[in-house]
Amino acid sequence: MSSRPADGALPGHPHIAYRDGALHVEGLPVDALAREHGTPLFVYSTQWMLDALAAYRRGFAGRDALVCYAIKANSSLGVLRVFAQAGCGFDIVSGGELVRVLAAGAEPAKVIFSGVGKTRDEMRQALAAGIGCFNVESEAELDVLNAVALAEGRQAPVSVRINPNVDPGTHPYISTGLKGNKFGVAHDRAVDVYRHAASLAGLRIVGIDCHIGSQITEASPYLDAVDRVLDLVEAIEAAGIPLQHLDFGGGLGIDYNGDTPPAADALWGQLLARIDARGFGDRKLVIEPGRSLVGNAGLCVTEVLYTKPGEEKNFCIVDAAMNDLPRPAMYQAFHRIVPVAPRTGEAVVYDVVGPVCESGDWIGRDRALAVAAGDRLAVLSAGAYCMSMASNYNTRARAAEVLVSGERATLIRRRETIEDQLRAEQTSAG
Ligand code: LLP
Repeated sequence: MSSRPADGALPGHPHIAYRDGALHVEGLPVDALAREHGTPLFVYSTQWMLDALAAYRRGFAGRDALVCYAIKANSSLGVLRVFAQAGCGFDIVSGGELVRVLAAGAEPAKVIFSGVGKTRDEMRQALAAGIGCFNVESEAELDVLNAVALAEGRQAPVSVRINPNVDPGTHPYISTGLKGNKFGVAHDRAVDVYRHAASLAGLRIVGIDCHIGSQITEASPYLDAVDRVLDLVEAIEAAGIPLQHLDFGGGLGIDYNGDTPPAADALWGQLLARIDARGFGDRKLVIEPGRSLVGNAGLCVTEVLYTKPGEEKNFCIVDAAMNDLPRPAMYQAFHRIVPVAPRTGEAVVYDVVGPVCESGDWIGRDRALAVAAGDRLAVLSAGAYCMSMASNYNTRARAAEVLVSGERATLIRRRETIEDQLRAEQTSAG
């Protein structure tokens, strides 16, 4: 059996393809990038990101809609710059993320601030920057934001995040719109919470928000959430509180392993039909997609260090690990793994694992690969929630990142050095 794949684009990755038997991202061979920058190395296709954004924009053609890229998916400045230049807004969840989007050239009025645990400092920072909306997640947070805004002599623009109690049918760690989750305000409490918000002089109500989870591969949970939110819009407006925008969050999935999520334009065609039918088609719409804008734009190149035959399992030990690619360890997530320069020969079934000292440090299980030490592999679907979740566990340096556009490659993050890691530490008070 040969593991040599046919020429052509990889599933879900139209800009990542084999040409003449060598893996390319857009116009550049991955092997050459790895030789130049070392491994592990993240490589991203700009065009995949722009195509993904274009699909949302087609879905919203003729509408007043703002795509706010949820930067937790990939917050590298070079990636943010792509979306800022394309006119996107941004969804942030910390003061650090605010600094990042501003550094990348975001328009503050197009920034929305989500998250259950905003601190007073973060609120002050976001008010001073003039962000477009705070997505508030509890009554206690409303009161604190009101107090902070009054003390600053400002009014904070707010949406309340509603928990619609809808099951998104995804991994429990990334479903967020169920009653048992920590997110949002319960559906039954929403009208009272809006009444309370309307009574606070430091707040200006601008919208309503929900986000039901991540890696959603069906339209039906979104349709349910739209219905639940629109029921509340009717009730809140009947209480005399107008809402300018409706924010339906993010969550659309990508193809990791033959997953077939709806295309963004098709999904929004369906959702807008429902929103129109209920008479809310003229409202400003906001969405917060993360993964679906970057996930399949990227791969992580890693070098095979050793192959290790075993009695029960064969191991392929590579130089990327759970600190670079945390999703398998955290969510038992599947990422395709393909050779960068396929060789002919017998494929052996391996567990692909990293050097970190834990059995949880695996990247792929039971993968048939024809590999030898020194070969390079590409871990696919690594554009979202990989680099942004990377850590220094085992005092491993975080990887470098390259952004490809056509035949141009830009090193958007150099490999971390040990000096970078030690900078904030000291051995004594002195
Ligand atoms: N808006 C809010 C309020 C969110 O909490 C999230 C993601 C998003 C938008 C963007 O969701 P997306 O479009 O990317 O699904 N680390 C996990 C995913 C965590 C998602 C957290 N919230 C993973 O690797 O699968």
